[in-house]
Amino acid sequence: MTKTIRKAVFPVAGMGTRFLPATKANPKEMLPIVDKPLIQYAVEEAIAAGITELIFVTSASKRAIEDHFDKNFELEYKLEKSGKTKMLECIRGAIPENVSCVYVRQAEALGLGHAVLCAHSVVGDEPFAVILADDLIDGGDNPCLSQMVETYATHQSSILGVEEVPHAHTDRYGVVKSEPVADRLEKVTGIIEKPHPDVAPSNLAVVGRYILEPRIFALLETTGRGAGGEIQLTDAIANLLQEEPVLAYNFKGVRYDCGSKLGYLKATVEYALKHEELSESFREYLGELSLS
Ligand code: G1P
Repeated sequence: MTKTIRKAVFPVAGMGTRFLPATKANPKEMLPIVDKPLIQYAVEEAIAAGITELIFVTSASKRAIEDHFDKNFELEYKLEKSGKTKMLECIRGAIPENVSCVYVRQAEALGLGHAVLCAHSVVGDEPFAVILADDLIDGGDNPCLSQMVETYATHQSSILGVEEVPHAHTDRYGVVKSEPVADRLEKVTGIIEKPHPDVAPSNLAVVGRYILEPRIFALLETTGRGAGGEIQLTDAIANLLQEEPVLAYNFKGVRYDCGSKLGYLKATVEYALKHEELSESFREYLGELSLS
């Protein structure tokens, strides 16, 4: 039987310390790139890939995410009354009718692996996607998760979204050891979390997109604390690939590391340059800046 990907997990419980004080009371996933919060880009990517159940793993102080995807009767009423239909559509249309949201709390900040494990009972026994909203990926007409779901349809095994990073940066990522299988596709033979460049098996880094077989949950149950004292998804994947194939897919598109200030600024500038209302005036402004 062909398996399909219907559910996506969004681990959004992280503290966002790199963006303090902005993230003291606001979730980092609610930081906007131009006019849309990061989490909404991630959700739109999931929906475009055919996902119909969005599972957010949240923590205290993340209420704004629930509110963002909920109905806001008062605002809708006011916009409707004042005839602001475009704005109304833009706040109403975020989650289509056939898509549902589930919120699960991660009581303790024990790491990404633990966050994914918190979603086990909602995901159940089926393959699922994981999206880290910090990694904003512009895949153009074919968003990253759609590309991965297509690849999954053929291969029916876990797939990690990867890209080449500067070798000196391997200690920021899960890094894979792999063998080529097809264009943009590798078979993962090893994976290690945040290796020092001297010991990194390659410069092929996992970015925040995963399709995982449900076997990962049993492995996460027994995964101890790893890098940074956290329960790492990477360590459970290292065990998974001993039992079943895990692929690495080198997606087409541009990734912005919006967990870092510089990456966030790059995304802001490039999305503003493509924004239908701003593009022209912003380009003009940048031109003026570089003259001075
Ligand atoms: C997490 C994962 C890491 C992955 C990265 C992608 O790290 O643990 O394996 O490469 O996301 O952004 P974090 O950025 O949360 O430290």
